[in-house]
Amino acid sequence: MTTRASACGKVILLGEHAVVYGRPALAAAISPGVDASASHGDGLSLTVSPWGQTFRPEDGTDLGRALQVLGAVMHGTDLHLDATMHLPGGGGLGSSAALGVACLRAAAGHLGMGLTPERELELALAWEKVFHGNPSGVDHTLAARGGVGRYVKGEGLTLVRVPERLSLVLADSGERASTRAMVESVARQRARRPEAVDQTFDAIASLVGRAEVALAAMDPLTLGELMNLNQALLSSLLVSTERLEALCVAAREAGAFGAKLTGAGGGGCVVAVAGNRSGAVRGAWEALGARTSVVELGP
Ligand code: MEV
Repeated sequence: MTTRASACGKVILLGEHAVVYGRPALAAAISPGVDASASHGDGLSLTVSPWGQTFRPEDGTDLGRALQVLGAVMHGTDLHLDATMHLPGGGGLGSSAALGVACLRAAAGHLGMGLTPERELELALAWEKVFHGNPSGVDHTLAARGGVGRYVKGEGLTLVRVPERLSLVLADSGERASTRAMVESVARQRARRPEAVDQTFDAIASLVGRAEVALAAMDPLTLGELMNLNQALLSSLLVSTERLEALCVAAREAGAFGAKLTGAGGGGCVVAVAGNRSGAVRGAWEALGARTSVVELGP
């Protein structure tokens, strides 16, 4: 018998990093994220496609340690998990959280363990902590709940109704950095210059509030401008890179209303709002060697 489950990835429209310090973020779930299946195994193991790698709790890897979270609640279980990632790993699109939620759901379903939504979030947070140290919770909450909304650490997700279809264009820079390292770098800056960094977080929070209104009002022009301002503030926190900046500039030159990095930065993906210039933005990014995709929000 095989039990299947899935979970969403996410794209942060505005508010990353500040969200770790209690400010709101505006984010959307993206699908497909990760599909997982659970079947009888020899001990606990997880095979991840397309990496073609198998992990076990005792193998000393981060994924092995994350499996220990599962093992602790599903004692002494012989369970094999197969996961298929539809998101680039380490690209800022919530792949580790989606993997955690999909595996938890498949495992719990297979073992006939009922997981309440609260318990699922609690276990997914423990899984995320293995990778990110001090996560705000935005990734695993979107992975589990889906939708588009405003997320505040400790308060959770408030859904925002997007009245019409809105396309987001994504590019993978091809660069990679660890989320944990980027979050720690911002923490070090905050320890050195608490007032300046907190002011930056407050400025980001005010952009998020305005972006929420723009999104609900289907005003992509304002949303894009707010994303550009957020990108400038993220650059001031030293989480952008030359390549991410070049991709944002190329998007704006190709007619995007706005573009910014998404996720922890240091590499990973950029997101743009470009209306009927979306194709031109993808073309400009592909000319720079980036892989692109489109995500649709709304009905
Ligand atoms: C990672 O997707 C977003 C960060 O804000 C970290 C977090 O919220 O846990 C950088």
